[in-house]
Amino acid sequence: MTEVAQTPHIRPTAPIASTVLLPGDPLRAQFIAHTYLDDVQQFNAVRNMVGFTGTYRGREISVMGSGMGIPSISLYAWELIHVFGAKRLIRIGSCGAMQPDLDLYDIVIAQSASTDSHFLHHYNLPGTYAPTGSYRLLRAFDHAASERHIDVHVGNILSTDVFYNAADDVNERWAAMGVLAVEMESAGLYAVAAEAGIEALGVFTVSDNLVTGAKTTAHEREQAFTQMAELALSVAGK
Ligand code: ADE
Repeated sequence: MTEVAQTPHIRPTAPIASTVLLPGDPLRAQFIAHTYLDDVQQFNAVRNMVGFTGTYRGREISVMGSGMGIPSISLYAWELIHVFGAKRLIRIGSCGAMQPDLDLYDIVIAQSASTDSHFLHHYNLPGTYAPTGSYRLLRAFDHAASERHIDVHVGNILSTDVFYNAADDVNERWAAMGVLAVEMESAGLYAVAAEAGIEALGVFTVSDNLVTGAKTTAHEREQAFTQMAELALSVAGK
């Protein structure tokens, strides 16, 4: 009998597709799977980081929680790619806007992801690596959004390790370099994907604005998330 591959964090009980959507929250993965996918099977339950595989417009897609922060998403991405053959990873999450003209619920696509994390140091590169999203996925997402008359912001974001910052002017300094928004995962995802030669993209809805102090409610976040998830599915389903 052939043994099914397993990792410390993923013990598959069903197949995993080559395209995987990665919301941070595993309950969102469950929601997407049960709302949008046909023939859904759960493939992972380790640490309650649930993952599901089903079909969307006839194409096999998986959706799994990534957890919060670069250490979490990077280990799941690594295992999905190197052990389970994933070829396209799309993070769908939320972000804090760092520019005043980004409104709540706006969609941001991370063309590139700056970071204050030391994760990239383990590649031991002789300079500063620039984690970059897949142009093909970015173009497809942008196209899907414009077909639906949804505006998106595309640019550099910050993947931070620090949600509660003790220093005062940190966000302003990143904002002065044109950084659009802050989240906590994409730089790690992009680096892991780049080293493996596969495609990755991070897309987010604005849940708060660090300049104006505006914040969404949990219910509003859910609705904005749904629109972005539908866009990501339409890209993944092609
Ligand atoms: N995700 C959503 N809002 C955020 C913030 N303010 N900082 C980091 N990640 C976020």
